[in-house]
Amino acid sequence: MKRIAILISNVGKGSNLQAIVDAVNSKKINAKIVAVISDTNDAIGLKHAINNKIPIKICANKKDLPQVLKRLKPDYIALAGWKQIILDEVIEFYPNQILNLHPGLIPNSVKSKVLAPDGTNTLWNKGLLAEKAVQNFLDKKSTYAGSSIHLLTKEFDFGPVLERAFEKIKKNDTVKTLYARLKNKEHEIYIKALQKLTNAISQDAAVLIIDGGGRAHALVNKYLQSKHVKRVIAIPGNDLMTLSKNVKTYPQIKTTDIKQIVNICKKENVDLVDVAQDDAIAAGLVDTLVKSGLKVFGPTKAAGRVEWDKAWARNFMKKFKIPHPAFKICKSQKEGVEFINSQREGTWYIKAAGLAAGKGALLASSNSEAQDAIKQMKKFGNAGRIFLIEKCINGEEFSSFAIVNGKKFAIIGHAQDHKTVFDGNVGPNTGGMGCSSPPMVITAKIGEQIKSIFQKTVGGLVKVGRPYLGMLYLGGIIDKSGKVFVIEFNARWGDPEAQVILPSVKNDLFELVTQTILGKIPKITKDNSYRVVVTAASRGYPINHSKVIGKEIIGLSSLLGHPERSEGSLKIFGAGVKVKNGKYLAAGGRLFYVLGEGKNVELARRVAYNTLSQVSIDGDNLHFRKDIGLQDLQRLLSPK
Ligand code: GLY
Repeated sequence: MKRIAILISNVGKGSNLQAIVDAVNSKKINAKIVAVISDTNDAIGLKHAINNKIPIKICANKKDLPQVLKRLKPDYIALAGWKQIILDEVIEFYPNQILNLHPGLIPNSVKSKVLAPDGTNTLWNKGLLAEKAVQNFLDKKSTYAGSSIHLLTKEFDFGPVLERAFEKIKKNDTVKTLYARLKNKEHEIYIKALQKLTNAISQDAAVLIIDGGGRAHALVNKYLQSKHVKRVIAIPGNDLMTLSKNVKTYPQIKTTDIKQIVNICKKENVDLVDVAQDDAIAAGLVDTLVKSGLKVFGPTKAAGRVEWDKAWARNFMKKFKIPHPAFKICKSQKEGVEFINSQREGTWYIKAAGLAAGKGALLASSNSEAQDAIKQMKKFGNAGRIFLIEKCINGEEFSSFAIVNGKKFAIIGHAQDHKTVFDGNVGPNTGGMGCSSPPMVITAKIGEQIKSIFQKTVGGLVKVGRPYLGMLYLGGIIDKSGKVFVIEFNARWGDPEAQVILPSVKNDLFELVTQTILGKIPKITKDNSYRVVVTAASRGYPINHSKVIGKEIIGLSSLLGHPERSEGSLKIFGAGVKVKNGKYLAAGGRLFYVLGEGKNVELARRVAYNTLSQVSIDGDNLHFRKDIGLQDLQRLLSPK
């Protein structure tokens, strides 16, 4: 159980102290108050300490505080009306452990601003205390007042913000009326912040996931397994996830509809938003949500540029010596064609620089095919206006994922995606036809190279002023000599990689993510199973699957079982499936994913393919690859 020391003085009435004591007594906060420390004997708050039999320490001189604290060994120090300066040595000794309440809206970075729920700028009130700060909201004619709970740093009235409260200012408000209402909210956010830090987020957190397909479903399942999470909301989500208890979706809302999403966060009282979808990141959803005071897991638009601008990303890799294929950035068809004409015959990738739903990279096995591919870039519209010509590296592809807190990271897993629609890696690229994990090709030596790439990338992003918070996806290739090159970075989980990696993670995902947001990187623990996930698609995908839309998927309902079945055992992830009058209908290209788990690839494949053999659509209209995990199966059966 965490230990909290509360610091008070004769300023104020001790109402924050009382709120914390009440929350500990009612077990809302899972912690022990080891002492109330006051700098005088006449602090009103001391009576709350006496009434609740909490030890009292009087520390008249701020220089004595370090010694007093050392004996108490607190995990967190809550400032609740303490009027003296906290010495730097205390801040250094308790990094990210001292909580302060500031009557203003502290931004996340010195240059940014916090937006009020109505979109107006709010006031930081740096250097203003209590009534003076509240007066400032009135003087400046703000529409909202507000307060922040932040962790103390050496920078005055600044530091990581744990919680913010907003209070709408009424027409006839005085300092007294406004402050009375704001104080109630301050108590609430103080408790909320301590709950989060002491891991007693009770059992009722609401998580919003911004995404819709199988990846979103894997995230929904994982969050629902958390002891802290009561409800999960997904935008847009999909029908199959709503078969689980406590899941709500907003199918009509786009992941880029920032205004609506902010409204839903407020309406649903969301505790955490996990932005898992590329368009949303590129649109700057994370930036706005953070400014609105929400707790968000996902990179800002600036950091997400590693994905949404592949030309920028290649220059970034070059700058930080991150191994990558030779590339040429082209701004026109003419430039591309001239470049190819100047090159020896070769195999190339022609890639749209912008986001193209995972389909923007075209393989060209000769210079003349490259010229055709260059001409196709215009079909990607704005995303293909700038494109790259890259030398194709022969080798084995993989995807690796790291959870990143801005400065540090932990690798959470590796997988192998199968991008093309047909067996043997032929046919057009898709969003992903299946994954296997953990890939046997990732040896310790390869793992070291991957780690070094993440190190250079996370460090490089800090150096270019774009610190990255969220899941970072490294799409890599291992050439014949065993060297790893970056094919691309993505600013999110992979789909369907999330479906094979998330179930292998033993950590509580809500804890993992909230700790990461707070600047920590918890140790990741994994199970030992091998997993294969196979994508079930409509025949014709990704070119034209329209004839399958609306047809019933036979066998799916009995596989899914009763809607009340526990989230933990659900092994099917939905995407383009509509549930109508109890029937499961094809509603997209990628329909659903079947996960097989086992102690090795052979067993995992057997489970996945046995399951799939029980499903069909009108004859032969269900398509899936039969070779997911086959490479590892061959390695298993005939090791070198
Ligand atoms: N698995 C490919 C992607 O998520 O982009």
